[in-house]
Amino acid sequence: MVPGEQMVSSRARKVTTNTLQEMKRSGEKIAMLTAYDYSLARLVDGAGVDVILVGDSASNVMVGNDTTVPITLDHMIYHAQCVINAVDRALVVVDMPFGSYQGDSKLALKSAIRIMKESGGHAVKIEGGKEIVDSIKRILTAGIPVMGHLGLTPQSIYKFGTYSVRAKEEAEAEKLMEDAIALQEAGCFSIVFEKIPAKLADEVSKELEIPTIGIGAGPECDGQVLVLHDMLGITKDFSPRFLRRYADLGGVVDDAVREYIEDVRQGSFPNSEESY
Ligand code: KIV
Repeated sequence: MVPGEQMVSSRARKVTTNTLQEMKRSGEKIAMLTAYDYSLARLVDGAGVDVILVGDSASNVMVGNDTTVPITLDHMIYHAQCVINAVDRALVVVDMPFGSYQGDSKLALKSAIRIMKESGGHAVKIEGGKEIVDSIKRILTAGIPVMGHLGLTPQSIYKFGTYSVRAKEEAEAEKLMEDAIALQEAGCFSIVFEKIPAKLADEVSKELEIPTIGIGAGPECDGQVLVLHDMLGITKDFSPRFLRRYADLGGVVDDAVREYIEDVRQGSFPNSEESY
């Protein structure tokens, strides 16, 4: 250490795509969570999460839609701006919404540039395999890092018709392996695997040099991601097997709001100390 230089913990350093590659190489697991607004993103970043995903799951948990299909590029940019304002350390990845990249690599580049320029996000995430490789390559020409997303891809819900586990059959598992390799070769810095068998996620994670992040994909991925509102117990009607609830914030909010209503109705809030 140079005299006078302060020792900085690796946890205090800003996370970049290079940090994630190093974490994979050294076997350090990557912790990723979603966030969509300033206040929760501030808490999540302050607690030390490595990656914050401004997920298009905002369509479900922020807006109340049944699927991620309706959320727009403008909405995603707005949520990403709120998160970016809060974050000091984490790498912020922004989901490209349905209709902003499929089947048109020029549109994909235009959408990704809008996300980066207007929100200040650090990278984009995009769902799909070989069929979106052209879009990934074109986005990368602008120097925008791309995270892939394979397995259950919620933007294609109307094609599959169900949110069940993907790639259980051999043919689909082989296709997932090929897609993952194609995404790595196209230049993705990481790939999310959603709801696939743990054994398959393990095999593909070992095959790839880039880090894999699992949600319902077992413990052998290089990192894990959960939707913040699900793991905090704010959403109650979604209980897949892979979800671990770390808190019951729904219960805490319900109790607090009921107590407040009672106090207001009884005239015990505000008291003299809470008045001017
Ligand atoms: O939008 C989202 O929250 C996601 C995660 C489920 C990975 O894509």
